[in-house]
Amino acid sequence: MLKLKIVMYMILVGLLCLTCTPKDTGSIKKTDVAKDTKTKLSKIDMLMSKMTLEEKIGQMNQYNGFWDATGPAPEGGDSRWKYDHLKSGLVGSVLNVTGAEAVRAMQKEAVEGSRLGIPLIFGLDVIHGHKTLTPVPLAETASWDLEAIELSARNAAIEASSRGINWTFAPMVDISRDARWGRVMEGAGEDTYLGCQIARARVKGFQGKDLKANNTIAACAKHFAGYGFAEAGMDYNTVDVGTSTLYNVILPPFKACVDEGVLTVMNSFNILNGVPATGDKFLQREVLKDRWDFQGFVISDWGSGKEMIDHGFAKDLKDVAIIATNAGSDMDMESYGNIRHLKEAVEEGKVDVKYIDDACRRILQAKEDLGLFDDPYKYCNVKREKELLYNDKHMEDALNLAKKSIVLLKNENSILPLSKKEKDLAVIGVLAGEKNSPLGNWRMGSDDNSAISVLEGLKEIGLKHKYEKGPDLIKGNTSFIHEVKINETDRTGFKEAVKLAKKSKKVVLVMGEHGYQSGEGRSRAKLGLPGLQQELLEAIHEVNPNIVLVTMSGRPLVLTWADENIPAILHAWQLGTQSGHAIAAALVGDYNPSGKIPMTFPRSVGQVPIYYNHMSSGRPGPIDLVFWRHYTDEVNAPLYPFGHGLSYTDFEYSDVTVTNNFATTGKVDVSVQLKNTGSVKGKEVVQLYIRDLVASTVRPIKELKGFELVPLEAGESKTITFDLTKEELGFFDPQGKFIFEAGEFHVFIGGSSDLKEFKKFEIQ
Ligand code: BGC
Repeated sequence: MLKLKIVMYMILVGLLCLTCTPKDTGSIKKTDVAKDTKTKLSKIDMLMSKMTLEEKIGQMNQYNGFWDATGPAPEGGDSRWKYDHLKSGLVGSVLNVTGAEAVRAMQKEAVEGSRLGIPLIFGLDVIHGHKTLTPVPLAETASWDLEAIELSARNAAIEASSRGINWTFAPMVDISRDARWGRVMEGAGEDTYLGCQIARARVKGFQGKDLKANNTIAACAKHFAGYGFAEAGMDYNTVDVGTSTLYNVILPPFKACVDEGVLTVMNSFNILNGVPATGDKFLQREVLKDRWDFQGFVISDWGSGKEMIDHGFAKDLKDVAIIATNAGSDMDMESYGNIRHLKEAVEEGKVDVKYIDDACRRILQAKEDLGLFDDPYKYCNVKREKELLYNDKHMEDALNLAKKSIVLLKNENSILPLSKKEKDLAVIGVLAGEKNSPLGNWRMGSDDNSAISVLEGLKEIGLKHKYEKGPDLIKGNTSFIHEVKINETDRTGFKEAVKLAKKSKKVVLVMGEHGYQSGEGRSRAKLGLPGLQQELLEAIHEVNPNIVLVTMSGRPLVLTWADENIPAILHAWQLGTQSGHAIAAALVGDYNPSGKIPMTFPRSVGQVPIYYNHMSSGRPGPIDLVFWRHYTDEVNAPLYPFGHGLSYTDFEYSDVTVTNNFATTGKVDVSVQLKNTGSVKGKEVVQLYIRDLVASTVRPIKELKGFELVPLEAGESKTITFDLTKEELGFFDPQGKFIFEAGEFHVFIGGSSDLKEFKKFEIQ
C-alpha cells in the first residue's frame, strides 16, 4: 500500500514536471544562490532564471497551516495535495503555523524537499503583542506615545520571531469614522495625521533597523484600501467614497508605511467604488506600485480573490486568478486561484508573463530582505523561544503602555483618584473579574485567561473592597470565530450587586464590551453597554450615586446616560495581559491618566459616522429656523470629542504665538505656553489643528497637524513649538496630486479637538 502511494506520488511529481517549462532543470541550493552574487545578475535574477513558470506561480501561493509538520506526512485529503505542492516548490508562504519546531519542520520540507529549495515566509496576525498582549491598537493609539507604540511592536516582533514567525499582517492602517465597525479596535482611529504617525511607528517596531536580524519581522500595511469605510459600519460591506476622502483620508497612512519601507501590503475584502480591491488595478498597480514606487509585494486578504465571484466581478476561479494578477495582487491567501489556474491563463495569453515575473521577483526579494536565503531556520531556535516568552521586560513595557492608553473621560468633584485607604468600597461587574476579555481580539499567540483582572490588580495594591459579580455578560463560552452571545435575561447576581452598592460608600463598577465583541466580523448596531449592564448601572445609581465607572471596549461606546449621571468614567479599552495592574494604578492615582481618545464618542448611534474633521457645510448654523446642518432630536456635538482626555492635574494653555516666516523659510512657527497648574505631575497631549479657509476643494473645519506628549511636574511650564510647512498646509486634489494653495489659515492649539479660539495667518 505504502509502495503504491510512493509510486503514485512519483508519477504525480513527474507529471507536474512535464507540465513545467524549465529553463534549467538543475537543482540549485542556497549556496549556489550566494555564489552568483559575483556575477552581474542579482541573486534573484539567477534564481528566477532557473525557475519554471509553475514554480514562479507557486511563490504566489499561500496556504493556511494545513498539517503539523512535526508529525508524519499527510496521507490524504486537502493536506496531502498541499503537502505535495510544498515538496514541489509550489508554495511561497504559509500562515498560522507557529512554534520554532513546527516552523523548522515545515521549512525543511520546502528547503530540502523541493527542487530549488526556496524557503517559505511564515505569516501570522501579530496585532497587539504575541505572547505578552498589549492594549488593542485603538487603545495603544490613545496613548499618543509613538515611542511606546514602536516598542510595543518591537517586543511583539521579538516574541513572534522566536516562534518561527517572520511576517505579521500588521499594522492595520484603515482610517475609520464608524464605531459600529468592529475592526476599529485594530486601527488607529479616525484621524489621518495621527494614523500616519502611528503607522510609521508600528512598521519601525516590527521591521526594526535590520530586517535580516533574527528578531525583526516583515510588516504588512492593510487593508488596501477603504475597508474602514464600510457602509453602515457593517464588516465586508460596500465602500463608496469620493476622491477627496480617498486621497486625503484613506491613502496617506498606506503611503506613510511605504515611505517607512514596509515590506508587504494586504489588499481588502471590500469593493471600492464598484471594484473589489483585490482586482483593483488602479489601486495596486497605478497608485501603490507606480506612483508610490512600492517595491514589496501585495498579499490578498483571506479568500478575497474568490470573493470576487460573490461580488459578481469574476465569473469563476480562473477569472479570479486572471483579474487579481493583472491588477497587481501578487500572492493569494486561501483562494487557490493562482495555483489552479494561473499557468493556463498565462499560456492562453490572458495574463502577461511579465506580471508573474514581477510578482515572483517581489516575493523572492522579500525573502532575501529577510535573510531567508542565507539562513532559512534563523527564527527556529527552541532555546530562544523558551527564554523569550513572558519575559519580564516585555511585561513591564506592556504595563507602561496599558497605563498610557487609559483615558479619563470624566471626573466630577475629583472623585478619582481613590484613596488607598478607602473604606467600604464595593467593586461590581463581571468584567472586574475577567481574565480573558481584556486580552482583546487578536491573541492567538497567547494563552486564554492570561490577563491580570481588575480584582487581581486591586488586591496587589492592597485596596480593600467587597466584590459582587452581578449578572453575566455573555452566555456560554466564546472564541475568535464564534458570535458572542450576550446575556439579556439571566439576572442571577443582580440583586446582590445592588445590595452591596447600597451599603458601600463608593462603588467601582467595571462594565463594557467583551473582548470578542469587537474585531473582524463584529459590527454592532447598538453602542451602549451590552446586556443587563445599563439596567444594573441605573439600579445601583439609585441606591448609591458615588460611582466610578470603568469602561472596557474595543471601540467608542455611547455612554450618554453615564455621562449625565455618573461622576467619574475611566475608559480602559481592552488593555491586554497587564490590564488589571494598569487600571488599579490609574484608579488610585499611582498613575496619572494621560490618554486621549483617537475616535469620537457619539451621544447616539444616529450620529455615526461622527468625526471631528468633517467638511464645511453650506449651512453650518446654528440659526433659529430649521434650515441648517443639524438633527431635530439630537445635538450635533459628540459626547466626547476626538482628542479628549482628562488628568488628575490641570493644564493651562497661554501665549499662543504665530510667527509667519513662510515667504523666507517656508515655515510658520506656532508656539504655546503650557503650564501644569495642579498639584501632581502629569502628561498632556498638546494638539495643533489648522483650518484652510478657502481652497479649490472644500477642506475640513479642522485638521490635526501636530501633537506633542508633554510631561510636566506640578507647577512646571514649557513652551511647545510646531512648524507648519507646505506638507501640513497642502492637500490632495481630485487627481491625487499633492498641492499647496496660498491663502488664509486658522490655527487652534489645545488639549482636544473641541477648540473654539484660533489665531490667523495668511500666506501670499
Ligand atoms: C483578515 C486579515 C488577516 C487575515 C489572516 C482576514 O480575515 O481580514 O486582516 O490578516 O484574515 O488571518
